[in-house]
Amino acid sequence: MSFFDNDGMPADGRVEAREKVTGRGKYAAEYPVEEVCYGVFAVSTVAAGKLKSVKVEKAKEAEGVIEILTHLNKPVVPGLSDETKIRESRLGLAVFHTDKIFFKGQPIALVVARTLEEATYAASLIEGEYVQEPFEVDFDQVRKKTALTPAGKERGSMEAWTHAAATVEAEYTIAAEIHNPMEMHATIAHWVAADRLRLYDKNQGVNNVQRTVGRVFDLPAENIEVFSEFVGGGFGSGLRVWSNTLAAAMAAKMVKRPVKLMLTRPQMFMLTGYRPASWQKVKLGADREGRFLGGWHQAMNGTSTYEDFNEWITGVTRLIYHIPNLRTEGALVPLNLSTPTWMRGPGDCTGDFAIESAIDELSYALNMDPVALRLKNTAIDKHPNSGLPWSTNYMNECIETGARMIGWEKRPSKPLQLMEDDWATGYGMAVGAWNAGRGNASAGIVMQKDGSVSVRIAMTDIGTGTGTGMRNIAHEVTGIPKNKITVELGHSSLPAAPSQGGSTGLSSVSGAVVAVSNDLKTRLAEYAAGINPAFQGLKADEVQLTDKGIALKTNPGTVVSYLQIWEKNDLKTLELEASSGPGEERQKFAFCSTSAHFAKLRVNRRTGRVKIEKYVCVADGGKIINAQAAANQMSGAVTGGIGMALMEEMQIDTRVGGLIANDLAGYHFAVNADTPVIEVAFINKPDVNINPSGAKGLGEVGIIGVAAAITNAIYNATGKRLRDLPVTPDKILT
Ligand code: MOS
Repeated sequence: MSFFDNDGMPADGRVEAREKVTGRGKYAAEYPVEEVCYGVFAVSTVAAGKLKSVKVEKAKEAEGVIEILTHLNKPVVPGLSDETKIRESRLGLAVFHTDKIFFKGQPIALVVARTLEEATYAASLIEGEYVQEPFEVDFDQVRKKTALTPAGKERGSMEAWTHAAATVEAEYTIAAEIHNPMEMHATIAHWVAADRLRLYDKNQGVNNVQRTVGRVFDLPAENIEVFSEFVGGGFGSGLRVWSNTLAAAMAAKMVKRPVKLMLTRPQMFMLTGYRPASWQKVKLGADREGRFLGGWHQAMNGTSTYEDFNEWITGVTRLIYHIPNLRTEGALVPLNLSTPTWMRGPGDCTGDFAIESAIDELSYALNMDPVALRLKNTAIDKHPNSGLPWSTNYMNECIETGARMIGWEKRPSKPLQLMEDDWATGYGMAVGAWNAGRGNASAGIVMQKDGSVSVRIAMTDIGTGTGTGMRNIAHEVTGIPKNKITVELGHSSLPAAPSQGGSTGLSSVSGAVVAVSNDLKTRLAEYAAGINPAFQGLKADEVQLTDKGIALKTNPGTVVSYLQIWEKNDLKTLELEASSGPGEERQKFAFCSTSAHFAKLRVNRRTGRVKIEKYVCVADGGKIINAQAAANQMSGAVTGGIGMALMEEMQIDTRVGGLIANDLAGYHFAVNADTPVIEVAFINKPDVNINPSGAKGLGEVGIIGVAAAITNAIYNATGKRLRDLPVTPDKILT
């Protein structure tokens, strides 16, 4: 066995590696489509009001311009004919269907031209005339006028814990953050017939795009064909259908040609969602031994003026710990910005920062080790909300393993103990959890005479390694060598799958891949029985597939070759499809993935610079299907968490209602230079109840907990408690 298979690729490498590194893999905007023309948005320069007119005359005369689309000449779109339908469409933004301006940066026109350059230039000549209205973009101002309402059922009594031995109470804020996947959102829309639309589109779920666009254009979903074979990152931004998809489809209808619309990087900051700004207040009390007696978690998040987006920030507080007396409250803060959306561990990641910071504060108040304090309170027996027993919960193992890996025993119990020159060293930790889910999915398998198979499913792989996981599962179940298994993903004609999000991708598809792999074995056994009676009536687990044929598990020398089966039955290919989804185990058990995060860092007392020296992340995501892809996902998520803790911030100029930084030079996130080597470890025990593969899902738990681990370490180093993210150097110094 060589490390490389005979194709020159690492034997266990990613299925899409070759396409990605050679540039052969096509992202949405890269498909060659004949007669394609280019669409570029012109956007509102005011934050609220009404469009009086859109001056398009100059742009119309510019070279190469084919058409200019505005709210005045848009084609009729049945699903957007009135306000109710617009709401029901579940589009990210029903562009050109109103003269109302909700935010600065809202598209007011789409220029369609022969080339991208011509369209870009012409778009710059478009001017809107507005009746301006007062606007509100200052989250902090509006939230002070906003009332909280209950978020979830109150536990116990708020009086029961007023005499706790130690109580902490503090407010926490997190700035809005932008997903910023490397690949910009893009669509090529091509009406191949009056009622048939082909879309090359960047998204996290082709079936969702099909359904949504079908609803909007009043067409059956199957009339919308969606290609999303390669997706350059999503982080949640691809879970909705945004204005680029809708506008490209409308424009293509108008000009009767395919239209390509790729958002610019600045447009990506306002037209594809973001993690909303948030405010939280946590009150937490414990007895002398550190048992939590009560908690009160209040939270608000920003939304737009035209849609409610609720992050459900306090959910995580109801998930991780036993808090016998608990009140959780929430509220939405409408602003003249576009609608936020799910982003990297949505909701839980936000709430986790506050609750995990408060627990750290409590540990100092109790003079107790934060690891010990958590181990005393984690709800590892049952889900504190539903009361259902966990199928598996290895939170405490995550914590204990992480503590060993970081060298927690070297942590000073008080700040300012480890000083060297201008640097103070500190250790911090926090935990994360996520309700593990599973959706209904189908998978297909196509086998050729030479024994090679293709596993097919509509799910988009946004870089998480789902395709590689599918190949590994098909290999394990059937025995077919990995280099004879290919994977087809990201096309709407493939067997249906849920969107890739919420750490449910592999959990959803794995059941279907196991089912179809088993079906293949039994079908081949039936065929083989016609040639060799030894295969009569055999079940899937009694046979094994090899390079050349089907063999008896108990006697691998007894083989019927694929060649024989194909010839005898005059087969061209063998095609099967199977479906799988959650069953009654959902009524019996609760499911979660968990993580423990540990940071060792240094803080410079002159510059306020934070240098993370070592980072450890231990996760329980059930069985690990592909160690490399899983570890990549975790270290990527941690990098996102470092950005959240120290850098990422949507800065808004409250005078004009627009963003100050809307490119990758002005919006800082963590890069390699900001991150140490991130050590990742997995519990790697299968959860037999969630799905046949035993994988519970990873991704969200890679980021949930990072921000608090870092700010807790900064406190341990410096004695400075920082409760407002991002913790930029100025906040450390002042
Ligand atoms: Mo996500 S926020 O699971 O794409």
